[in-house]
Amino acid sequence: MIRIVEPVFGEEEKRAVLEIIESHQITRGRWTKTFEEEFARFVGVEHCFTVCSGTTALFIALKALGVDRGDRVVVPAMSFMATIDAVYLASADPLVIDVDEFYTMDLNQLEDAVRRYRPKVVIPVHLYGGMADMEGIMFLADKYGFYVVEDSAQAHGAELKGRKAGAWGHVGAFSFYASKNVPMGEGGALTTGDGKIAKRIRSWIDFGDQPAFNVRITEFQAAIGTLQLRKLPHRNERRREIATRYSAAMEGSFAVPPEREGSYHVYHLYTLRHPERDRIVDELKKRGIDARVYYTYLLHELRGADHLPTPTAEKFRREVFSIPVHPHLTEDQIEYIAESLVSTVSSGKIVS
Ligand SMILES: Cc1ncc(COP(=O)(O)O)c(C=O)c1O
Repeated sequence: MIRIVEPVFGEEEKRAVLEIIESHQITRGRWTKTFEEEFARFVGVEHCFTVCSGTTALFIALKALGVDRGDRVVVPAMSFMATIDAVYLASADPLVIDVDEFYTMDLNQLEDAVRRYRPKVVIPVHLYGGMADMEGIMFLADKYGFYVVEDSAQAHGAELKGRKAGAWGHVGAFSFYASKNVPMGEGGALTTGDGKIAKRIRSWIDFGDQPAFNVRITEFQAAIGTLQLRKLPHRNERRREIATRYSAAMEGSFAVPPEREGSYHVYHLYTLRHPERDRIVDELKKRGIDARVYYTYLLHELRGADHLPTPTAEKFRREVFSIPVHPHLTEDQIEYIAESLVSTVSSGKIVS
């Protein structure tokens, strides 16, 4: 089976893990500090705080922004469930809105939602590695006065107009789960350029100021994350190369992933659309290609949340599927995947 994701580690990671064991400094050491410094520099912000997961990063971001019972938080219909679960965990009420053609929060509907519901926080998600319309969202944030937490769990290194995911909003939330473009096994981080917000984030992380969970990562995770981060730029480039090859082969037979103008998509997932999605995914699996659907649910359906009409997300949810795009695919595998896909669609053109 050609796997949908494949974390790859080298001799450097092995050596670092052994050195940590021999040093006896297995948590809160130099690697954690190094990772936080390098990740902040990479994203282009002043502050980075590591935590144990992306879900935790979202939760702490909301709490640090003062979210509590009775507050509204807007999320898009298409995302992993952690995006909405963090809102419930922070005791707030989510409002789910539709997505645009880029699988990210619909700006027009956001303005409508903000006028009607006056949210405290909006969480755009850079789904599959493609940037949400951060310019438009930050314009509305200034106009109406809400905070923005970018769910950047799938978008390490993605950019819009030269600014990276996690540097646009008041806070960025990242995941370093095993499948992510920067894998640690488990892990997460918050990024911010705002010193006051950084202070409040710290109060949720360090014991002392208020009751808090232990959300730390170990030196093993930080070392692996640091070494993987250093490989990210060329790995993202390779993902983009593979995506370009796929899109050239599949254009006309499938709806290929769109790239927002002025953006740098990092293809955490290469996601296509086709009305015969289920048949195609079955066929690919039979041919040894691990195609998958991200996601089979919309966020408001999961937990019965309030929502505005979501016609685009409802259509996309029935048609999307993702194929392997990780940077260690061989030339033969890339060729085989592209050929298999094209040959599974008999009729040629998509009905959109
Ligand atoms: C969009 C999105 N948000 C949040 C998360 C949560 O991250 P974690 O699994 O590290 O808690 C994930 C991934 O798992 C994700 O893909």
